[in-house]
Formats: sequence, C-alpha cells, structure tokens
Amino acid sequence: MKLANRIHRIQPSATLEMTAKAAELKSKGVEVFNMSVGEPDFNTPSNIINAAIEAMNSGHTRYTPGAGTQSLKHAIQQKLMRDNHLDYNLEEIIVSSGGKHSLYNACQALFQAGDEVIIFSPYWVSFPDFVSVTGATPVFVKTNPTKQYEPIFDELESKINSNTKGIIINSPSNPTGGVWSDEAIKRTIDIARSNNIWVFSDECYEQLTYDLPFKSTYQLCPDYDKILTFQSCSKTYAMTGWRIGYTCGNKDVIKAMSKLQGQSTSCPNSIAQFAATEALLGDQSSVKNMKAAFKIRRDLIVNRLNSMDGISCDIPGGAFYVFPDISNLINRNVCGKIIKSALDLCLVLLESQSVVSVAGNSFGANHNIRFSYATSEDTINEAMNRLEKIILDCN
Ligand SMILES: Cc1ncc(COP(=O)(O)O)c(C=O)c1O
Repeated sequence: MKLANRIHRIQPSATLEMTAKAAELKSKGVEVFNMSVGEPDFNTPSNIINAAIEAMNSGHTRYTPGAGTQSLKHAIQQKLMRDNHLDYNLEEIIVSSGGKHSLYNACQALFQAGDEVIIFSPYWVSFPDFVSVTGATPVFVKTNPTKQYEPIFDELESKINSNTKGIIINSPSNPTGGVWSDEAIKRTIDIARSNNIWVFSDECYEQLTYDLPFKSTYQLCPDYDKILTFQSCSKTYAMTGWRIGYTCGNKDVIKAMSKLQGQSTSCPNSIAQFAATEALLGDQSSVKNMKAAFKIRRDLIVNRLNSMDGISCDIPGGAFYVFPDISNLINRNVCGKIIKSALDLCLVLLESQSVVSVAGNSFGANHNIRFSYATSEDTINEAMNRLEKIILDCN
C-alpha cells in the first residue's frame, strides 16, 4: 500500500511503546515496576470530576465553539494572570485536545517545507515529528547537562540561518527535568528576536518546579510578540486522559489554528472543558500536594542513582523525570550483555528485572535513561534495588 509521504516522516512514540510493553508484561502476570510513565499517578481531584458530572447532567454534551468555550477561555485568562502574570485577550487563546494537539496545530499553522526549526537536545520525542510532518526540518542544538540542560549558545547561533522559522523551548523539560535560568531564556529570546524567529514555549510542567519559582517565557520577555505559550491541564491536575491544553499568543496564529482545528477535531471535548474550568479556577491545594509528593520522590531517586557505581544524575529542577548518565557503563558486561548504549541497559533492566524505563536514544541522548518518578516511593525503591543489583553483578 502506498501511504502518503508525511506518514513516513514520523516515528511511533517511544514512550507510548514502552508503556505498551509494560502493559504486555503485566497481562502475562509479571509484576512490573514501571518507571516509564509520563503522567501523574494521582487521580484527578474530586472537585474536577464533580464538575464534569454536573456538566453532563446539565446537558453540556454538545459541540462547543471550535476554539473552546468562553467560560474556559475566561478561566485560562484568569489563571495566566494569577500564576504567570500574563495578560492575554480572549482572541489570543485557543483550547485544544491536550498540549500535544496544541503544539501540533501550531506547527501546522506556521511551518512548511524549506523551513528549519530549532529543537534542543535531549528533546521530547514528539517535537521532531511535529516539525517533520509539516515538511520543515528539525535542527538539533546541544545543551549543557550540568546546567539544567540550558542551550550551548555558540551552537544555537551557528545553527540559525535565513530558513530558521522557529525555536521550541521546553522548560521544565521532558525528558531531562531541566529548568532553565531566567538568563538562559532571555538570551534565547534575544537570539530569536534578532533573527525574527517564532518561539514556542512548551510550559506543560510549569507547576512542577522544586527549587525556583517558575517564570513563563513571555513573562520574562513581554516585548517580543512572536512567543507562543503552551500550557496544559494534563500534568498539573492529573488530567492526562481528559485532553485539555491551550495556546496563547499572536491572534492571527490563534485564528489559523482555530481554522485548522475546526476542520479536524471540531472542538475539544465539551465535558472536559467544564472540568478544566473548575481545575483552573477551583481549589488549587491538590496541585500543591502533588508537587510536594513529587519533590520527595525526586530527592529519593536522585540519591539512589548517585549511590550507584557507574551512574551519575544531576538534580533536575522540575517535571517528574530524572535523566541519569550511564556513560561509565558503556562497553561493560551487564547480565551477559555488552552495553553499547542506554537502550541495551533499558532492555536488560526490562527483561531481567521487569523494570520499565525509556532509553535516552529516543530523546537524542544515547548515554542516558529516563526514569519517571510519577509513581510510589515503594516502586521507586524496588526499581532502584533492581537496577543496583544488575550493576553490582556487572563486570
Ligand atoms: C514536553 C511535553 N509537552 C507536551 C506534552 C503534552 O501533554 P498533553 O497533550 O497531555 O497536554 C507532554 C506530554 O507528555 C510533554 O511531555
């Protein structure tokens, strides 16, 4: 069968693949220690669930305006002012079916063949695919692992040319958990500004910074109007399945995204939009509680990893991932397998210990492994015991 070329430009999501592998093992009755999950292990808070039930009982079960209900857009406006000191008009806001959909739509609205888009490496697996499917080319720029994966600025400047149309920032980051300093963000925006480049600021982990308060990119650089802000209810409110994300920025881009969305998904889920309105405006204590739990787990897993010979892990400032470096295990024999890259170690860990992680290979980092700590302390401890065991056994 001859499928359209655009399908061959994208890869299946590596993280979803690992989640599927974990489910397969579980279905065979194996006890699995899943450290690959990219979503909070908490339930959606009950006030949000109740708002959805009320929405259904009140008949809010029909199509909504394509770019989102007025009440949710008002809620987003208030949330952005309350948490991020950002002032957007309603026509500068669009609600989509999750942050992923928001980013995908924005890439479709702005990029095309001949364009280049800068992505910082290690990167979230979906960024290169969002860009490639438009026909544009992803261009990777290395970052500094000892400085929260901030850009190597000389490399950033050297990779920009007249085709560069966009830069994607993701702080706090998936997969590294890195949180850029205000200076790094401002310096990146200065470079974007002097080359007239669109900046996508993916802030889906904005509520999860543990050492410093989060600052939105547009809050730091309010005088640059080519910044698009992307946020999501998924990680903040444990609402990954509800599929609500939003984009804010230039109204012509928002209008273009709305046109595209109107002809693809029609509108985001009506019930989830009512739930999201409650999430953004209702009691925020669950956000604080989840963040406190994540911080304890981050400290636990970083300490465990750094106590293992051959593994080193800088302290990530946010999100719920650690991204330890396993370079010192390369070419060593672990459980009878010579480790050539992180993927080999992940496979040994999965096959011999039933611990699921994601190899850095799919994020552009062959010597790192991503462990998600959005799981219980018991699971973290058991997974780390098992990792420690195979490393101790190796020679
Ligand atoms: C960096 C990053 N951006 C965006 C998203 C999209 O999340 P959602 O579509 O659930 O809002 C994710 C989800 O894993 C992510 O890690």
